[in-house]
Amino acid sequence: MLFEPFLRSAVMPLPVAFISTLSRSGIRNIAPYSSIMPVLRPLDLICLASAKKRDTLANIRDNEEFVVNMAGADLADKVMPLARYSPPDSDEFAEAGITEKPSGLICAPGMQGAYAWMECSLHEEYEQSEHVLIIGKVLRLEADDNALTPEGRLDVEKTRPLMMTGAENGMHFSTVTNMNRFASFEAVFPEALQGK
Ligand SMILES: Cc1cc2nc3c(=O)[nH]c(=O)nc-3n(C[C@H](O)[C@H](O)[C@H](O)COP(=O)(O)O)c2cc1C
Repeated sequence: MLFEPFLRSAVMPLPVAFISTLSRSGIRNIAPYSSIMPVLRPLDLICLASAKKRDTLANIRDNEEFVVNMAGADLADKVMPLARYSPPDSDEFAEAGITEKPSGLICAPGMQGAYAWMECSLHEEYEQSEHVLIIGKVLRLEADDNALTPEGRLDVEKTRPLMMTGAENGMHFSTVTNMNRFASFEAVFPEALQGK
């Protein structure tokens, strides 16, 4: 089957993260974003694709900071209410009944209930005709202790990371399954072995 452009997002599950920001006058804003990816390892830089008409984008440009709140399936009910348009002067934390989690290094707060929080500063942006790619520098990344296995890895069974795939007329939500399969980087970079 060949996919027409508007259906193409149906083949690519994406994470759902909530981006929290402050406006110039300190009003709290939060919105779900799925077009989000790390810029290689280590996770120093993260890239978000934003439409131009987003309070999130305006706030990132004004204050040069944002929090990427990593969400589990428990937050699925918050996605659509927070995706609805809200005027820039409304406090979206209060509107959606979200408790803030104070950040350590930046003014924008995170959201309670997320399993990890990336505090970011605006590093660079690339503006295109309809979209803006925001590159954030990850200044601090904190995860809930309960979200981790005893070995310090993300416990996907406990956190149930929230994912989304597009459809012609909406979005499907899903989560991740643990395959209990691990591969070492040494299998990709044998020189790492030799250097030992
Ligand atoms: C699951 C989901 C993922 C979304 N991902 C993005 C995204 O990656 N980029 C974007 O610009 N908008 C995205 N949106 C739309 C915004 O969340 C929505 O327009 C929101 O109202 C923006 O709020 P703001 O104006 O307060 O920034 C997404 C919406 C949903 C439901």
